[in-house]
Order: sequence, then structure tokens, then C-alpha cells
Amino acid sequence: MTDTYDVVIIGAGPGGYNCAIRCGQLGLKTAIIEKRSTLGGTCLNVGCIPSKAMLHASEYYEAAAKDFAGLGIEVTGLKANIDQMQKQKADAVGGLTAGVAFLMKKHKVTVFSGVGRIAGAGRVIVTSAAGEVALSARNIVIATGSEPASLPGVEIDEERVVSSTGALALKQTPKRMILIGAGVIGLELGSVWRRLGSEVIVVEYLDRILPGADAELAKQAQRVFAKQGMDFRLGMKVTGVEKLKSKLKLSMEPSAGGATEVLDADVVLVAIGRRPWTEGLGLETVGIQPDRRGVIANTHFRTSAPGVWVVGDVTTGPMLAHKAEDEGSACAELIAGKAGHVDYDIIPGVVYTKPEIAWVGKTEEDLKAAGVAYKVGKFPFSANSRARTNHETDGFVKILADAATDRILGAHMMGVGVGEMIGEMCVAMEFGASSEDVARTSHAHPTMTEAIRQAAMGVEGWTMQM
Ligand code: FAD
Ligand code: NAI
Repeated sequence: MTDTYDVVIIGAGPGGYNCAIRCGQLGLKTAIIEKRSTLGGTCLNVGCIPSKAMLHASEYYEAAAKDFAGLGIEVTGLKANIDQMQKQKADAVGGLTAGVAFLMKKHKVTVFSGVGRIAGAGRVIVTSAAGEVALSARNIVIATGSEPASLPGVEIDEERVVSSTGALALKQTPKRMILIGAGVIGLELGSVWRRLGSEVIVVEYLDRILPGADAELAKQAQRVFAKQGMDFRLGMKVTGVEKLKSKLKLSMEPSAGGATEVLDADVVLVAIGRRPWTEGLGLETVGIQPDRRGVIANTHFRTSAPGVWVVGDVTTGPMLAHKAEDEGSACAELIAGKAGHVDYDIIPGVVYTKPEIAWVGKTEEDLKAAGVAYKVGKFPFSANSRARTNHETDGFVKILADAATDRILGAHMMGVGVGEMIGEMCVAMEFGASSEDVARTSHAHPTMTEAIRQAAMGVEGWTMQM
């Protein structure tokens, strides 16, 4: 045994590193174990950050190609330099992962590089090229995150048949790219490569895109993405991908059964969800049994084993960085004997396409299923002065409020910048705001946020600008 820690955290993604920082702030002797060569987890290394770097660059490229001329900006010789795009992506990732390492030092968290494994109550082994180190821990936090789910008959090689990781590292624009799954990853990374010149086909098992999002929002989003050039093949099940020398042959059939169709592609992206990462973690040594999807259950971050906690993608709830981060710090507070809490009703979701899609709280489908009477206020960006001035009028804001109390129950938006605007609705909902509270709050003119106010006014039927 080397040392006894108050807390040993396995996994240094947003769940783990935020837990470590908060533990450090609360005076707990803390260690964190990470098997990747850099800290920050999926999010910083191969997820949120690199995807946003590629989305940002490709959005400018497409604007320069398609929108600048209309604004009176003439561009000649426009060219996508994929090497440079990848370099600026790597710079963003490098800077932020180094930032996490700095934060570990600042908060006196000991970092172990290697694979962590629970070896019984209060015992964790770190295995690395240098050998094994045994740690003793009063509390163990599992924050091992998730990995891409795989599809039978589709072997991922990260070059031609890729997960999000390979799709973020392509060295050239594929001529034709097929996305399996019209979820968040498919729409974001499909947007990147479509903007850079790929023909993009999206094959989705269900008869809609973005399952879980408000159905009206998803339908309108599909219309906009189709207008941009994405070819949606909904209600289709992929049965296999054959790798020929010069191309890939993807076979699919209707989800409900029917004739097989074959499509050619240069790159296939498998984006059908992610699964919790629990392999080789030694869970059996403390009697933890994940469910059949690999999810470790928790009650206020406590697992079934005393002294073993769990946060982030590897446990229940949405697989989102901010959810993992919130759980990490709340878990640290509970370990320190304080009151840690996460409000699962108010976790926003954002799809960083153009336009963006954002939501928080209940969808109309949730409210109908729960039998809750609600009112709807809606406002299109085509009637918002800033959106019109910017020639970015696709989308709308929809606010759902309780019919009896007027309390806001959900907000659903599509439009340029709504990923930032959704924060206003999170704060309003966290403070229990009514739609009238938002409707009577002054919003600067001309801003996109006025659409939120107008939608809130619409709940009681006094929208001004329509
Ligand atoms: P992770 O970030 O997965 O971190 C877990 C860490 O544990 C990993 O670094 C792993 O190497 C390490 N680990 C696992 N097992 C061991 C072990 N035995 N020993 C040592 N280390 C171990 N979410 C958003 O909110 N916004 C976004 O824009 C967004 N974009 C995304 C884009 C992509 C392409 C992907 C794939 C995901 C995206 N996500 C986004 C989801 C987000 O990345 C995850 O929800 C988040 O990273 C989860 O954090 P976590 O700490 O639970 O796990
Ligand atoms: P997802 O769950 O968002 O979407 C997967 C899609 O694949 C669904 O539409 C599903 O119906 C479909 N699907 C499943 N099996 C299929 C099959 N056999 N054939 C065809 N379609 C099939 O998962 P995705 O996009 O892989 O993302 C994984 C996770 O990463 C998500 O939970 C998401 O929260 C997170 N993420 C978040 C981002 C953000 O917050 N902006 C960005 C990217 C990822």
C-alpha cells in the first residue's frame, strides 16, 4: 500500500475531474486515475471540444462559400485546408487538456497515469507500463464514461468505417459519407463533412430524427437539414457494411421488414449511441452488478457498494458533459458531508449544428404522456428583427407552461445561437419562473433573445411582434 486517500477517482473526464477539483477545494486528499495520455476524458479529447472546433471552422467555410457574397463580401480562391482545420482542432484540445492538468495541480490532486481497477472494498490498483501501484481509499468514485456502441455486421476501423473519433480525424473530405443514426453525433459530424463538400446520407432506424427531442422541433430541424442537402433515409435498418478495395457497400432494409437496398459510400459513420465503460473495472470485487446495457445504478451517486460512488456517462441519465460535471461536484460535496444536488429536470440539451437546436425540461410528448395540462407560446425567428437583419431566420422558440400555474415546464428552440440562449430558460426554470415572469422581463433590442420573450408572451396570447 502506498498511501491512503480520502477519495480515489477512476476516470478524468468532466465527471471525474470536476469531482477531483471539488474534493480538493473541500480539503479531501484526492487521487485521480486516467488511462488516456491526457486528461479531460471523451469530452475534451474526442468529443465536445474537437467536434465544436470542426463545426466552427466548417461553419465559417460554408458561410464564406455561400453567404458572404450576399453580404457584400467577395471571396476568391476559397479553399478548405483540412490539415489546418485539424491543427486548430488539436490546438484547442491540447490547450484545454493541459488546463485540466494545471487544475489538478492547483487543487493538490494526485494524478496517476494508467488503468484503474477496484480490488475490493477501499482498494484500487493502477496498472501502467511502469507496473502496478496499490492505492487505499476511503471513497472510490467511478467516472469511467462511455464508448461508442457497435453494430453487428459493421466493423469499425476508424479509417473508412468510423466512430465519432475517426470521423473527427479524417484527413480529407469523403465524396460520399453515410451516417448510421440521426442522433446528435450524426447531425453534428454530418454537418461538418457536408459543409466541407461530402454528399451525406443519414440512415436512421426510427421514423424521426433526434429521438428524445420535442417532436415538432425534430421535424422542423429535419426539414432545415434536408434543405441544406442531407439525404434522410428514415425507418431503415443497416444490416451490414462490406469493405471493397475502392468503396464500402452498406446494406439496409426497412425497419419493419422488406427488401434490402445497397448504397455505396467512401466513409460510414456509426453513431447509434454510446455504452457505459465498465470493462475490467473489478466491479465484481465489491458486488456491483451493472444492468444489461452496462449502466451502474446510483442513489444520489452512491452505488450498491458502501464507499463506492458513480458519476457521469457510466451511470443513469443523459450522456452529457455538463450532467457529468454537475454530478462530479455534487458527489464530492456529499462525500465531504455537505449537501450536493443535481436538478435532473433542468439539464439542457444542445445540438451544435447551424441552426442550433436546444431544449430544456419537458417536451409536449412528455406532458401529454403524464396527463399535464399545458399552454404553448411560440415565436418564429422569421419575425425577429435581429434574425432578419442577419438573414438567419430558420427556427423558432417554443415555451411550454403549466395551464393552471403558468410555471414554465419546458423550452424548445432552433435558431442561430440558441445553444447560448437556452441558459436563460435554465435559470428561469431553476427559479420557478412563470411564463409571465419572462414575458415581463426586458430583453435588449435587437437581439435573438427577444424571441424568447415573445414566445413567453405568446403563452397568454399577447405576442407583440406578430
Ligand atoms: P468521459 O468523458 O468518457 O471520461 C471518462 C474517462 O475515464 C476517459 O478519459 C477514459 O479514458 C477514462 N477511463 C475509463 N476507464 C478507465 C479505467 N479503468 N482506468 C482509468 N481511466 C479510465 N456532451 C456535451 O454535453 N456537449 C457536447 O457538445 C458533446 N459533444 C460530444 C461529441 C462527441 C463526438 C462525443 C463522442 C460526445 C460528446 N458529448 C457531448 C458527450 C460527452 O463527451 C460525455 O457526456 C462526457 O464526456 C461524459 O463525461 P464522463 O466524465 O462521464 O466520461
Ligand atoms: P444518440 O442516442 O443521440 O442517437 C443515436 C441514433 O441512432 C438514434 O436516433 C437511434 O434511433 C439511431 N439508431 C440506433 N440504432 C440504430 C441502427 N441499428 N440503425 C440506424 N439507426 C440507429 O447517439 P449518438 O448520436 O451516437 O451520441 C451519443 C451520445 O453522445 C448521446 O447520448 C449524446 O448525448 C452525446 N453527444 C452529445 C452532443 C451534444 O451535447 N451536442 C454531441 C455529440 C454526442
